[in-house]
Amino acid sequence: MCGIIGYVGNEKANNILIDGLLALEYRGYDSAGIATLENGIISVMKDKGRVKNILDLDGFDDLESTYGIAHTRWATHGKPCKENSHPHCDNSKTFSVVHNGIIENYNELRNFLTDNGYTFYSETDTEVIPNLIHYYYNQNKNENLSVEDKILKATISATKDLKGSYAIEVISPLIPNTIIVARKDSPLVIGTKEGANHVASDIPALLRYTRDFYLLDDNEFAVITKDDIKFYNQNMENYKKDIKNIEWDAAAAEKNGFEDFMLKEIYEQPNSIRETIGSRLKLNEKCSFDSLNLSKEYLSTINKIYIVACGTAMHAGLVGKNIIEKLCNIPTIVDIASEFRYRDPIIDEKTLCIYVSQSGETADTIAALKLAKSKGAKTIAISNVIGSSITREADYTVYTHAGPEIAVASTKAYTSQVVLFAILGLYFAEILGSSDISTLENLKKDILDLPSKINELLEDTSLIKEFADKFYKEKDMFFLGRGVDYTVALEGSLKLKEISYIHSEAYASGELKHGPIALIEDGIAVISILTDEDLVKKSISNIQEVITRGAKTLVITNQNLDYNNFDYIINIPSTNPLISPILSVVPLQLLAYYISKDKGLDVDKPRNLAKSVTVE
Ligand code: AGP
Repeated sequence: MCGIIGYVGNEKANNILIDGLLALEYRGYDSAGIATLENGIISVMKDKGRVKNILDLDGFDDLESTYGIAHTRWATHGKPCKENSHPHCDNSKTFSVVHNGIIENYNELRNFLTDNGYTFYSETDTEVIPNLIHYYYNQNKNENLSVEDKILKATISATKDLKGSYAIEVISPLIPNTIIVARKDSPLVIGTKEGANHVASDIPALLRYTRDFYLLDDNEFAVITKDDIKFYNQNMENYKKDIKNIEWDAAAAEKNGFEDFMLKEIYEQPNSIRETIGSRLKLNEKCSFDSLNLSKEYLSTINKIYIVACGTAMHAGLVGKNIIEKLCNIPTIVDIASEFRYRDPIIDEKTLCIYVSQSGETADTIAALKLAKSKGAKTIAISNVIGSSITREADYTVYTHAGPEIAVASTKAYTSQVVLFAILGLYFAEILGSSDISTLENLKKDILDLPSKINELLEDTSLIKEFADKFYKEKDMFFLGRGVDYTVALEGSLKLKEISYIHSEAYASGELKHGPIALIEDGIAVISILTDEDLVKKSISNIQEVITRGAKTLVITNQNLDYNNFDYIINIPSTNPLISPILSVVPLQLLAYYISKDKGLDVDKPRNLAKSVTVE
């Protein structure tokens, strides 16, 4: 939610800030703005709508500053409009701030500041921050400190008053060519190279400039100039931090000739899956993870596994549950992070908790992880983003290595998460000796064959396109499946909703006649997934029930269906049923994509959404 950018160097900042915002626009696109220092005065250019609008504002090209801060907004407090756009300044225009996160006690702080003579011009929670900094700066004005230290001290004092989450950047004409940053529970990275430093909400936004990063931790502060970065804790003690070298290349964060990031990411899946497998899985060898070292003694004490996540990551967890229960015989519960964190789940040191988050910044998932840790459980994070917040909280992290996922709709991250669950299940099972070796070796072979099978699937997508072209004007659709196919139905339905704005429902096929079948009427599109041989006959009966009531059917299957009266059949390659979602989800991703394109929508940045949900 919201993206922040900062730059200090030798070049003009205006276009560098805009380029950074464009790379972060997937995080929010309700409004955008930049603040630079022009002739000793803070200049703010902001407007509602997309980042590109800033380019058209009068005077943009004349901005000369070689440093500045910038923001692209996903509105929380206050509607998307110019007044509520960031950057925000204090009343005296001594401090300008951009903020990603939510200040929960902003009303209280606003009242306090109003009582102290401050006026507010926006409905945002953020506006309290520059004014609080100003308030504290005035308090310590006469102390025997440098101006920079006075402003740093005021920033630290202000953040101590904030309840909630924040990643902030502060500039002031009193300390030209300097940006002060701070974070708590919202992401912030500093990319560094000779003669310039950059700030951003995520690493891919800066890959075109550098691969050397400092990852700011909670309650840390940094004072950044073009040649120097000083780190401080809340006691204003100065210390050094290690640079992290990031291996992702800049091209991975570009469209590379694809019309949209989502399509590119769908087509990247054979490769991203190869990266996820890496050296963790080989035939006739035990699976291993560099970052995991769980003993048989420990795993034997585990009596329950929780998999906790949100959205698509939670759907990957549903497939993971199936794999772990089958291979390891450990009861596994999947929970939505926002529910888990508030319902006092039964957890102790015999519970292993696995948290899945592509971004590693999802507020509910992080809070759910902290809760499990406080109850004594061991925690594993599955994430795609190196050094993301969740990876710093968990006892262990396993990375999906799927490469940057830019489209809001998650595709390659899902398939990589499922692959990782399969390898994790194998790893646990090999340690525990809970499955026979031939079962495990056969599954390994099937996992290794996945990339070529996805390539096969992607060779001809014309039938999915045809179905999309025919049904894109529909108002409702249904997705059906049994067992693991039901988990894919949930994912297909979510994908369709989020990028095509078509209402859809996913049901376990057998559940349909307990109510929802009342909604089936003439011409409605019903999409079914049939990959489990043991359940195929039962699922076919359920599809017949909707055909009888006039539904138009699309069936995604790896089975030989001798007789059928389905309208469309998409044949997909066969694989072990435990991992069949990795193949059956691909036509569903494409279906959502083509429908969204047919409707002329912005596939990568659907309305009301943001890539990482860093608020509750
Ligand atoms: C997926 O298409 C969605 N955009 C969304 O459900 C997403 O998976 C969810 O917000 C979780 O994000 P995370 O994996 O970054 O934690």
